[in-house]
Amino acid sequence: MISVIVVFAIVTVLSCPTEAGYQNTFEATKGCLKYNSHQGYKFTHPYFSTGAYRNVRRGPNNATEFRFGVLGDHDGIFRLAPVQNPYDSTLMHEIVLSGWAGTKTDVRRYVRTSPSEMNNYSMFKIQSSYGLLSQFDPLMFTLTIYSNGSAKLAKDGDKYPFFEFQDSTLSFRYIGFCNWNVPVIYFFDCPL
Ligand SMILES: *[C@@H]1O[C@H](CO)[C@@H](O)[C@H](O)[C@H]1NC(C)=O
Ligand SMILES: *[C@@H]1O[C@H](CO)[C@@H](O)[C@H](O)[C@H]1NC(C)=O
Ligand SMILES: *[C@@H]1O[C@H](CO)[C@@H](O)[C@H](O)[C@H]1NC(C)=O
Repeated sequence: MISVIVVFAIVTVLSCPTEAGYQNTFEATKGCLKYNSHQGYKFTHPYFSTGAYRNVRRGPNNATEFRFGVLGDHDGIFRLAPVQNPYDSTLMHEIVLSGWAGTKTDVRRYVRTSPSEMNNYSMFKIQSSYGLLSQFDPLMFTLTIYSNGSAKLAKDGDKYPFFEFQDSTLSFRYIGFCNWNVPVIYFFDCPL
């Protein structure tokens, strides 16, 4: 009898107040800064100094960890540069989350000469990532970068990365965000 009551109590507690499926996934963005991107791929968007982030974690093996959020249907584009205005033949990197009409995630390296021009383009990692982004729920993840240019992106609560790459020329001093053909909201400098 007691065990029946206990089971009943547990079931009641578990099924009671949170309406499953209606949790506010935006609570995960609390404490982040926000940038709205809707001017497209060639816009002179800002590059934010990661040295000014309030939230940076030092992980094992001297890893630097930043946490971000992305809200948009597809093409969450992260630009990592060594300088704030990477337009003087700057070697830099671009991570595209759920590009290619929402089917693939990739990372490229190129030399940027203006907000709209680049050369020496090389895409050195691309993989399928169906359903990674959503216009309704932010994708929250931690970017971990090691001094050897090894980088990994892992979703909140996930032990294993959903994307990783390595390039010894990678610099993450400045990070900017842009969109392709649908608006994307970025959450950055998130608590971790
Ligand atoms: C880079 O450093 C990390 C951490 O020390 C290590 O796990 C990883 O294997 C290294 N990658 C390469 C390509 O050396
Ligand atoms: C760009 O590519 C050309 C030809 O491959 C190479 O000679 C040049 O050094 C590269 N420039 C940079 C800045 O990487
Ligand atoms: C630790 O990482 C930081 C940031 O990448 C770098 O500036 C520093 O040189 C690294 N220290 C060591 C001992 O590798």
